Amino acid sequence: KNYCVILAGGRGQRLWPVSREQYPKQFLDLFGTGRTLLQTTYDRFARLLPKDNILICTCAGYLELVKEQLPEVDTKNIIVEPIHRNTAPSVAWAAMRIHHHTPDANIIVSPSDQLILNESSFEHSMEVGISYVTRNNVLLAMGVKPTRAEPGYGYIQLGDLSCKPDVFEVKSFTEKPEREFARMFMESGEFYWNTGIFISNAYHLLDTFEHVFPPVLRELRYDNPNYTEEEEAKFVADNYPRYPNLSLDYAILEQSNNNVYVMKCDFGWADLGTWHAIYEVMHKVPDDNVVMDSEVILEDCKNNIIKLPKGKLGVFNGLEGYIVAEEDGVLLICKKSDNSSMVKKYVNEVRIK
Ligand code: GDD
Ligand code: MG
Repeated sequence: KNYCVILAGGRGQRLWPVSREQYPKQFLDLFGTGRTLLQTTYDRFARLLPKDNILICTCAGYLELVKEQLPEVDTKNIIVEPIHRNTAPSVAWAAMRIHHHTPDANIIVSPSDQLILNESSFEHSMEVGISYVTRNNVLLAMGVKPTRAEPGYGYIQLGDLSCKPDVFEVKSFTEKPEREFARMFMESGEFYWNTGIFISNAYHLLDTFEHVFPPVLRELRYDNPNYTEEEEAKFVADNYPRYPNLSLDYAILEQSNNNVYVMKCDFGWADLGTWHAIYEVMHKVPDDNVVMDSEVILEDCKNNIIKLPKGKLGVFNGLEGYIVAEEDGVLLICKKSDNSSMVKKYVNEVRIK
């Protein structure tokens, strides 16, 4: 009765131009391992759970990519949102689906844009987390110790110890704080990063969503307990566009009345959502340069991240602190900083998606 919901409907704008609206980062093999981020995430959960218990949530535009990359997943396990409404409506729908078949299910929700280095520690955390939510009606966020004042993540302030050794109450949750706050949070030592992975039980998840969303969800859940697949599809097509565009972090985790707890984890987690984040985790060649699967000649270059298409040779002299990324007709040369909204801005301004 343990399930996993993999979120794979993001547009990956902060990793533009390598991540494109038609082909966002979760569908890319960023490290040249032969598996894309989505496939790696799927493989990780397929080692833990029966394949039938893994659901992929994506937006209609990415359905073909999901099918192509995960042919082993039955289409009935792919939840296809007709329109991008961010993660809260998506998880609510997935939770309803699961609850419909398995009311006492436990559900792990996972993004598909991250790196996890220590798989056995990860498995252990999932087991402990699942056992915790079997006994408690809570949302249990997986937290990791922050290593820098990164404004792009959720910050969880630890409260009292709830369950030995690693589950704590949450004093506060701040999604994407201002830079200055991120620095204070980091320095205080009281905060953990939200990995975006959390565990709950189906009952509690739905209960939580009922407070957040209009009665729309309730209609599907209670008034129509024997709905068919066709009815569900029609209901969703009619109603999904009416749902608010809300991420789970803002809609649920940040609201203190939702019974959120945090488990301290240490499974070698890194986000792969931005150039800066990737730079942080990648292997550095001399002078702190990161060269991603690209052919380059570097002279007097420091602290850059470079990703060029196959067949292109890049020659760099005296470049310091830049992102150089080319893909499909777009070349980005941009000062490297942890301000990822800058890259996002270009996606929207340049309008080359
Ligand atoms: N199905 C679906 N539908 N998935 C979506 C949608 C959607 O509309 N929008 C985003 N996703 C997927 C993305 O593909 C990604 O795997 C995951 O949901 C999280 O979305 P992001 O857009 O990457 O969120 P974020 O990186 O800004 O922030 C989240 O992750 C951080 C850690 O990486 C938050 O949970 C932060 O609190 C957290 O620190
Ligand atoms: Mg992300």
